[in-house]
Amino acid sequence: MTAGPVDSETLLKGGAGYFLYHSIGMFRDKARLIQQGLSEYTNLWSKPDDSQWPQALAIRQKFIDRWRALIHADAGTLTTSDNVTTALYSLFGSLPAAMLKGRRVLVAADCFPSLHFLLAGLAQRCGFILDTVPLRPGEAWVRDEDFLSQWNGDVAVALLTQCTSTASYRSDIASLVAHARSVGSLVGVDITQGVGLLPFDVRAPEVDFTVSTSLKWLGGTSGAGILHVRSGLLSQCSPELRGWFSQENPFSWALDAFEYASDARRFDHGTPSIVACAGTLPVLEWHAQQNQSERLAHNRRLASKIIAAADAMGLPLVSPREEGRRGGSVMIRLPASVDTREVIGRLRATGVYADCRGSTLRLSPGDLTTDAGVDRLFTNLRLALTNP
Ligand SMILES: Cc1ncc(COP(=O)(O)O)c(C=O)c1O
Repeated sequence: MTAGPVDSETLLKGGAGYFLYHSIGMFRDKARLIQQGLSEYTNLWSKPDDSQWPQALAIRQKFIDRWRALIHADAGTLTTSDNVTTALYSLFGSLPAAMLKGRRVLVAADCFPSLHFLLAGLAQRCGFILDTVPLRPGEAWVRDEDFLSQWNGDVAVALLTQCTSTASYRSDIASLVAHARSVGSLVGVDITQGVGLLPFDVRAPEVDFTVSTSLKWLGGTSGAGILHVRSGLLSQCSPELRGWFSQENPFSWALDAFEYASDARRFDHGTPSIVACAGTLPVLEWHAQQNQSERLAHNRRLASKIIAAADAMGLPLVSPREEGRRGGSVMIRLPASVDTREVIGRLRATGVYADCRGSTLRLSPGDLTTDAGVDRLFTNLRLALTNP
């Protein structure tokens, strides 16, 4: 086990001690692939002819098709969005007013805060009650049973989080969606902290909508988000954020003849942003060629090693110990007395990259992370905690 300050450029460059997959995904060929996508876009966009839009839109369509394949979404049920928050906004802004007014929207207290901020604002305007299922005192994730016990027929929409960003708790999507069906609520899933590492299939169990983005475990760029909407629900959706690209034919410009496209294109609005799709497309293509069970096994093995090392140091585990209930990250609690910024800084100086939310240290091992990286993490964490 090596200790102390960085002694190896290779370690820094190789990402052995990179634990930030919950934030930005990394893999060996990432720079080359993003560059390849962006330079293809740069070239087509800078060519003084009239082929820019057909080519750019074709790239966007390939991005959509890659995402569809990834989560098994039917043709015409998925479109792009800037980020997860805007995807959820588009969806809520499309639902019939009567569906939401006076009814509840159910969400867990450990959903991604940005989505809660959005829903809290929309609750006032759309007249729904935002019901937030709390954490039990001292617990790190909202229990599925607590979510279920607050969920009955007056819930118009429930938003689930596949894996939480604070504990990496992986919820039991199958039983939650089954409950949605039994009480007649719409149900959507934020898969941002799972996609790219854990499988997700919008058909099994069938969900009403899915929101996500490409920059975390998938390793794409920011700005490359998606919204999926079940085909049977699409016809009931009239997105308030709409524009010429929401139409079957964007060039239908008669002011009194606006008509939504029949499929998920109705969630488009103004001129689509393509750059993020272009930068991310080669990454999605790379991802589709990988052996997903090997990648997951690598993550699981290093996660077990992290848990064993945290146990040995007496650091409480914040994430579920049970593998089946855990996403790709392992969160551990540092003593309350610790200056977490100082700890993160000391780890950084040794080529170990992680982050903290409050006193929770978030560790996400991925494609580049190695056993030596985990050893280095714990050697230096021990030093940081014992010699503050
Ligand atoms: C569970 C989850 N949802 C959503 C997001 C990102 O949302 P947005 O793309 O709106 O910033 C994150 C980012 O960490 C996340 O962990």
